[in-house]
Amino acid sequence: MAAVTTVYTAILAKGDHMISTDAVYGPSRGVMQAVYAKYGVEFSYVDTTNLENITKAIRPNTKMLYLESPSNPTMDIVDIKAACEIAHKHGILVVIDNTFCSPYLQKPLDLGADIVLHSLTKFINGHADIVGGAIIAKQKDIYDNLRKTMVMMGGNMDPHQAYMVIRGVKTMSLRMDRSQESAIKIAQFLENHPKVAWIRYPGLKSHPQHELAKVQMSGFGTMICFGLKGGYESSVKFMNSVKLAMLAVSLGGVESLIQHPASMTHAGMSKEQRAEAGISDELIRYSVGIEDVEDLIQDLSNAFDKV
Ligand SMILES: Cc1ncc(COP(=O)(O)O)c(C=O)c1O
Repeated sequence: MAAVTTVYTAILAKGDHMISTDAVYGPSRGVMQAVYAKYGVEFSYVDTTNLENITKAIRPNTKMLYLESPSNPTMDIVDIKAACEIAHKHGILVVIDNTFCSPYLQKPLDLGADIVLHSLTKFINGHADIVGGAIIAKQKDIYDNLRKTMVMMGGNMDPHQAYMVIRGVKTMSLRMDRSQESAIKIAQFLENHPKVAWIRYPGLKSHPQHELAKVQMSGFGTMICFGLKGGYESSVKFMNSVKLAMLAVSLGGVESLIQHPASMTHAGMSKEQRAEAGISDELIRYSVGIEDVEDLIQDLSNAFDKV
């Protein structure tokens, strides 16, 4: 969140307008509404999978297009290259939260973005034992501004955490390869399960932006979201019955995690905002770790039996 707020603080001033993906990580939206609104920053949250919504939202004072792809938790995928072309025609900076992919799976600067940010807490560190962020900028003047803002606002990392991240990142490709291999198997298991109402995983043909994911990402990632038949009640019962995957927020670590965005990561949004962003009450988000995939599938299967 220090990376997110450093970008907001460095780039946006009173009277500026930001357009953002509507289904972003809850606090990235929450802090805009709770804090930056107080300082006179304007914002529009739109479904950026439809590029027309971006064009329609542009105002004379639009300064930043903020994207998350795949989005947390809905797994929506934005055509980054096309979105950058639209924004740049209007002199708008493009910022992408690339946390769900890590640089291993997606390189937004190559697709036209100006600034990329990551929660290091997730795939890059990979062991759920530090909290940190990173910002990468293409242009030197933008980088200098971001760095100055970060230091002044205090969002810098302590040396021990930096050491932990450097240690963790050494195994990133191994962790990601293993988790992705399992994720596709788990997604297929879920898609074929009679108690699953719907599922979103970029690697499945049923994902609405599967073809775009194939071109834009170099792998489909390890994040899955799905809903159970029987809605909210069934989803809660299911989540509480899963034993191997921990019921916890965060993602991208060696351990599999399961969570309920409506009551956890996205609880700060109103029910209406969540509905608009496609975050239904029954939505379950699953972050696939590096455990034995047969154990993970058995764990899910056992939990389905309890529903
Ligand atoms: C997409 C995304 N961006 C940013 C964050 C914030 O990361 P941190 O917990 O490291 O502050 C998260 C956390 O879940 C996230 O999922």
